[in-house]
Amino acid sequence: MAATLTAPSLRARKDDPERLVMVTAYDAPTARIADQAGVDLILVGDSVAMVVLGYDDTLQVTVDDLVHHTAAVARTRPRAMVVADLPWMSYHTGTADAVHNAARLVRAGARAVKLEGGRKRLPVIEALCDAEIPVIGHLGLTPQSVHAMGGFKVQGRSLDSARTLIGDARAIADAGCCAIVLEGIPDQVARLVTATVPVPTIGIGAGAHCDGQVLVFHDILGLDDRPAPKFVRRYAALKSEAIEGLSAWASDVRSGRFPGDEETYHLGADAAAALGADAAAAQAKPAGGLPWHARGT
Ligand code: KIV
Repeated sequence: MAATLTAPSLRARKDDPERLVMVTAYDAPTARIADQAGVDLILVGDSVAMVVLGYDDTLQVTVDDLVHHTAAVARTRPRAMVVADLPWMSYHTGTADAVHNAARLVRAGARAVKLEGGRKRLPVIEALCDAEIPVIGHLGLTPQSVHAMGGFKVQGRSLDSARTLIGDARAIADAGCCAIVLEGIPDQVARLVTATVPVPTIGIGAGAHCDGQVLVFHDILGLDDRPAPKFVRRYAALKSEAIEGLSAWASDVRSGRFPGDEETYHLGADAAAALGADAAAAQAKPAGGLPWHARGT
């Protein structure tokens, strides 16, 4: 089994032909499943807002939320490297806030933090690296910019925006990012970024030429059957399997088939006999008149 990745060994995977595998997880059961499947990195993403908490975008989650979910994942002590998202407004208000909030995620169990944005994030990336906190960048369709982008739209489609994105990738890698997530961009742009930067790129909706891939746990496993983005491939249909299982249990409860003998605790024979005798005696000798069930109302 491969050793747990660290920031330096993650950076060194740039030269490894085997692609990196990253998946989101937000709690202990999903972290255990991801880890037992042998992924390299578990991302406690701010997508928890939409995937688990029912919000329409990722802007609704706070540092407290991410700390809570990161700690749940980290308590499973996964072999995979745990990365936590810095949520919206946790690093936009200055480098001191960014370092303080990232430190909370590290104390909750993250081994690196991820933040969105290009050159305008350089001071924050440098401050985090100065504080010895490994940083993963995130470029392209950055969900925390949903309003600024005018929706969840593929980025880097025009020549200018593709050039900007490639320049951003170089700049954040130079500033110290140990990997870069590329989301929702044309594959030619992702390929150029991957060829240009000295750190691994991890794609989601960025084509096949990245150094690794990341997807959302619930999307891969079909825990949600609402329409998914084009870049998702489903490998299981756990929602329908879960509904089938719960419906079968509900029907067993209603008909009395659950619980059966094997799901039931029993007294030992002696204690059961003694309790039966107690009950019989109580019925034979009514205290203060007739037993309650023999009294008229
Ligand atoms: O929050 C998240 O799930 C992410 C991935 C989409 C990369 O940032």
